[in-house]
Amino acid sequence: MATWSAPGKVFLFGEHAVVYGKPGVAMAIKPRVFVTVKKSRNPTHPKSPYIDECFKRMGVRGSVYVNSQLQSSSGLGSSAAVTVATLCAINEEFGIGRTRDEIADIAFSIERKVQSGRASPTDTYVCTNGGMVLITGTSKRRLPPQGLQLVVGNTLVPHSTAKMVELVGTLQKKHPDIADPILDAIGAVTLAALHNINNQKVLGQCMDTNNALLEALGVGHPASSRLVLAARASGAYGAKITGAGGGGCIIALCPRRAKSRVAGAIEACEGKAIITTIDTDGARREKND
Ligand code: MEV
Repeated sequence: MATWSAPGKVFLFGEHAVVYGKPGVAMAIKPRVFVTVKKSRNPTHPKSPYIDECFKRMGVRGSVYVNSQLQSSSGLGSSAAVTVATLCAINEEFGIGRTRDEIADIAFSIERKVQSGRASPTDTYVCTNGGMVLITGTSKRRLPPQGLQLVVGNTLVPHSTAKMVELVGTLQKKHPDIADPILDAIGAVTLAALHNINNQKVLGQCMDTNNALLEALGVGHPASSRLVLAARASGAYGAKITGAGGGGCIIALCPRRAKSRVAGAIEACEGKAIITTIDTDGARREKND
């Protein structure tokens, strides 16, 4: 029996634009998904296309138990975390000997297949390796970890990443004259944020601008707008949609002293708040009890 866990992730900047080769910055966060894999003659596992694909790619059969601190379809990378943790646990249980980089690559190709070709390598890379990462096209660069204090606000409105990516794809095909400048501007905001990574006030302003651009792309939702406004009004440096949008989660960058107040404001708007910060471990072997 082998148990592995993998963290969730947030996009600090650049979601959607990364699908078009623009830079984006993502960070692994503390809540995790735990997966136990066991060799078995009569394998049982939760119904999940991601888990099915993991076994297919690794060429074995086994039972799986999943325990997740991440809500699925919320934009926190739960499918990538399940996929990476499952691959790592299969790798150990069956002695397959894949490296961490190979696991990240296989996980990415699984996400891309299950999401009908629409995925950037961000989620799978970040949750395999932890920390903060700059993604540009297929290139990934690890950034020095920053102790950013974040409050995640879950709107509890489920969304489909594939559908939201398709929505932006349709806009870009029909109206490249509108969509392309917005995607370029998101890329520019990401670069501005990187140049000001030590200045949280400017980072917060960059988040606000990034949020406005995501709304212009059509991935906003009344519930995420409510949480973003509540977070800003209660003392966050800035707040934005994180992930695919259309519901899902927002993040607020906060001064340490304002975290609980921001979390309270999010809960008062019927969102679920998670106070969190960076996870630097990535996929991790857990003890089997
Ligand atoms: C989803 O978390 C982020 C998107 O940019 C899609 C992707 O990068 O695969 C919308």
